[in-house]
Amino acid sequence: MTVYNYKTVKADFHIHNQFDYMEKHFGIPVLPHPCEYIDMAVEKGFQVLSFTNHGLLFDDPATFEYARKNNILLIPGEEAFIENKHVLLYNFPRQHINTFSELKKYVGKKRLVIAPHPFFPGKFCLKDKLFQYIDFFDAIEHCHFHAPGFNLNKKAIEVARKYDLPLVGSSDAHTLQQFGKTYSLLKVKELSIKGVFDAIRAQRVEIQTTPLSLWEIIRYYLYSRRWVHKLRKISRPGNRNEKKERD
Ligand SMILES: [Fe+2]
Repeated sequence: MTVYNYKTVKADFHIHNQFDYMEKHFGIPVLPHPCEYIDMAVEKGFQVLSFTNHGLLFDDPATFEYARKNNILLIPGEEAFIENKHVLLYNFPRQHINTFSELKKYVGKKRLVIAPHPFFPGKFCLKDKLFQYIDFFDAIEHCHFHAPGFNLNKKAIEVARKYDLPLVGSSDAHTLQQFGKTYSLLKVKELSIKGVFDAIRAQRVEIQTTPLSLWEIIRYYLYSRRWVHKLRKISRPGNRNEKKERD
């Protein structure tokens, strides 16, 4: 019998940084630089991260080099739009994949597919498509956005159990404050992309999650609303004057 010495590593597979063009497009102010997250990850004892900006694989060489110097394994990732639904793709080629039938050509052991916040209310959340295409998914996400008595992850937990899929904890961070409250502990044979994917597929993954306070829930909800940022811009004295001048 082979006895492995597993190493426990701390991981977050769902983070947005300031190179996320969609957040800019939707009027959300500048997100943190990837190196800011890496610095914080080092402080909090993470070993594995993936930046998953919307619609574009994040594989920036400078960031990968910075992560390597800080002993962080960075996995190329993307929050893709597949049939207009969010799907997390890891270690995929830089190729727009628009449909599940296209996705079929790329899936395999060297890649990983996670269903992010599948039963949250947004139109981009998978909902029924998760059942329709369940065979494409290697894992289901338990997102950080929950509080005592309010947890939109409940159905994701049930579905993961029903289909015997691993559940991973991740932050879906858009701010540094959101990072580190929910993450995954993995038991890996080796600290490599293969080691991480193998650990997830073998369900050697444990979620660590801290519920948010009511105030944090309200703050994060408001952060995601475009009108709030518009209002904030107008309410800043400098911007108000600029607006008057333009008028
Ligand atoms: Fe996301």
